[in-house]
Amino acid sequence: PSPAALERAESLIAITPDFPSPGVLFRDIGPLLTDADALATVTHALAAPFEGGFDLVAGVEARGFLLAGAVAATAGTGLLPIRKAGKTPRPTASVDYALEYGVATIEAAGDLTGRRVLLVDDVLATGGTLVAAISLVEQLGGTVTGVAVVLELSDLGGRRRLPQARAVFTA
Ligand code: PRP
Repeated sequence: PSPAALERAESLIAITPDFPSPGVLFRDIGPLLTDADALATVTHALAAPFEGGFDLVAGVEARGFLLAGAVAATAGTGLLPIRKAGKTPRPTASVDYALEYGVATIEAAGDLTGRRVLLVDDVLATGGTLVAAISLVEQLGGTVTGVAVVLELSDLGGRRRLPQARAVFTA
């Protein structure tokens, strides 16, 4: 994507103070998703560094689903929706992790032996979600060949835990 297209897409990320709790500056990609050009720009920017290196795209519920679906459809690959606890019948992999605010568990089922997986999410904050998702994909037998996020929040330390991650935007 062109620098101008990327700049425009970034300008559509809305910033709300004190959500979901006091002191948290919430960055919402909602307005970016509803704009056709911005969505296409970000979808291509997420996938481009990893082109040819993945045959499955995984995203974590809920916002990760949106981007993983868009990237998988664009790249012509399959999609693995990684779910929060209690949504997967007979999960074969389960990982607990800490969030920026709260704790959570992710689960999935299936055999990913031989699959090269691109993990996609909206935001990299502490990195807990994506570190857990890597572990989950590996429990299922897959190999994570790329990690891509729309927005990295550089103050929250996720980069230290995921030095390989590619971020389209950094705040
Ligand atoms: C948010 C966001 C990322 C994660 C980033 O998801 O969508 O997945 O937090 O934070 P981390 O790097 O500290 O793990 P959340 O679990 O709030 O779920 P949601 O997508 O349903 O809002």
